[in-house]
Amino acid sequence: MGQVNPEAASGAAQGRDSCQFEAIVRFAAPWRTHPIAEEVLPAMQSTISGILHKPGDPHFLNPALMAPNAFEIDIPHDLIAELAPLTAETQGMRENRAQYRLSNGVSLFNERPLAWQSDICWLSHADEEAFHWFDAIYHRLGLGPLVAPFVPHDREIRLYAGFLVTRSHCTGLNMHCDWSTDDNLAFTLMAPLTVAGERLGMTYRTIRDEERELSYKLGRGLVFGTKFVHSTAIGQLDERAAFLCLNFGTDRMEHWDSIGSTTARQCNVLRQPDGTFTTQAQWRARYGDRKAY
Ligand SMILES: [Fe+2]
Repeated sequence: MGQVNPEAASGAAQGRDSCQFEAIVRFAAPWRTHPIAEEVLPAMQSTISGILHKPGDPHFLNPALMAPNAFEIDIPHDLIAELAPLTAETQGMRENRAQYRLSNGVSLFNERPLAWQSDICWLSHADEEAFHWFDAIYHRLGLGPLVAPFVPHDREIRLYAGFLVTRSHCTGLNMHCDWSTDDNLAFTLMAPLTVAGERLGMTYRTIRDEERELSYKLGRGLVFGTKFVHSTAIGQLDERAAFLCLNFGTDRMEHWDSIGSTTARQCNVLRQPDGTFTTQAQWRARYGDRKAY
């Protein structure tokens, strides 16, 4: 749990060269000259291996991906097996803004970003009871304690929204950041739940401003925060690939304006940093009908 494979199966570890090394050195430079470097370096490895993180810095670097604020975690295979029959039920859930019910009683609401060049469906909890089903998965994965060192918060890292995401094709890139905040106040987990998810991956931008492909692996999830620029990769499948997606972060309400500008547009019911629930319509009424990406 929580261990990062620096040789990520994404292929992102390929093509290291002197420029990449220099970029890592530049990123790490403040620590190399820090008077307490011996104390800092062990702390850099305290929660997630395979990333460069200076304690107290809101950002970190994944040198294998050459990307900011991203790391991979293991997804237990027993969880994937438990979700498999439910994942299969999502294949036919395609109507925009329709509500569906899984065979375990969990109600889902479908939001489709129609401007994207993709048939992606974001199936989120349609009510609070369904939210708690996703919240149990979130706690099972141990995601909160994992990102807590990077996120300013008071008591806990909260789940805002959970999704079963499905898609079968993407004909054009829609490069974006999930979070419009300067610091790491919120994170996204994307983890494939079907083998098909390994064949329609992600395109992301490195810190050298290059585009790279990342292939998802069943049993692995990608966690990413602010300034991680990405899109569904261009591709076509003969079935809809399914993913688990979770949005989580700080419990401080003063950041909800910027955090909600993305996650509030993807679902109908969501939990706020203070633990209360709101709806997309209520969020828009309070903070404005803005397009975040
Ligand atoms: Fe995204």
